[in-house]
Amino acid sequence: MELRIHDKTFSSWIDRGEIAATVKELAVKIRADYPNQRLLLICVMKGSLVFFSDLMRSLDGEMEMAFISASSYQGTHSSGIVQVHARSELGIKGKHCLLIEDIVDSGLTIQALEELLWKEEPACLDIATLLFKPDAFKGNKRPKFIGKEIPDRFVVGYGMDYNELGRNLPDIYQLKL
Ligand code: IMP
Ligand code: MG
Repeated sequence: MELRIHDKTFSSWIDRGEIAATVKELAVKIRADYPNQRLLLICVMKGSLVFFSDLMRSLDGEMEMAFISASSYQGTHSSGIVQVHARSELGIKGKHCLLIEDIVDSGLTIQALEELLWKEEPACLDIATLLFKPDAFKGNKRPKFIGKEIPDRFVVGYGMDYNELGRNLPDIYQLKL
């Protein structure tokens, strides 16, 4: 199926069934690595909101949640500058923290957030991302938990946007070239 968002055409790509299976698998992997710990899941707003809410409900055991709002994208490309706009007040010192990202592209966003949050002395801080674009990644450490690797194509849906639209689509769509 194709749809129009602003000036661009997108075609359907990863359906809700595949997304749900990927999220459940990821939750099991995460819990296997932290069998008894209380986890603090940190949602990187706004893109991760939908993934975050599904992931937390698939995760067994104790968890807390926090929110941080960051942005770097303009249109279909990274601006190269990461801005942190706001965050919830829950402290992270001494906690087992997991940053939850919708998609890791250049890696700049997670790098900036990791630098910021490590200063607050968490017990540990790892990254879980639904999607990962290895060909676009410029960082030196891959996210610890990856749902699915994808080619370097711009996507929308399941929380992810093109200039703020498309976040409410239940499936993931890719930009038509
Ligand atoms: P990075 O800093 O280049 O790794 O980009 C990460 C952030 O940019 C993600 O958290 C998304 O919010 C956004 N982003 C990256 N790639 C895409 C995409 O293909 N579609 C929508 N948003 C994206
Ligand atoms: Mg994001």
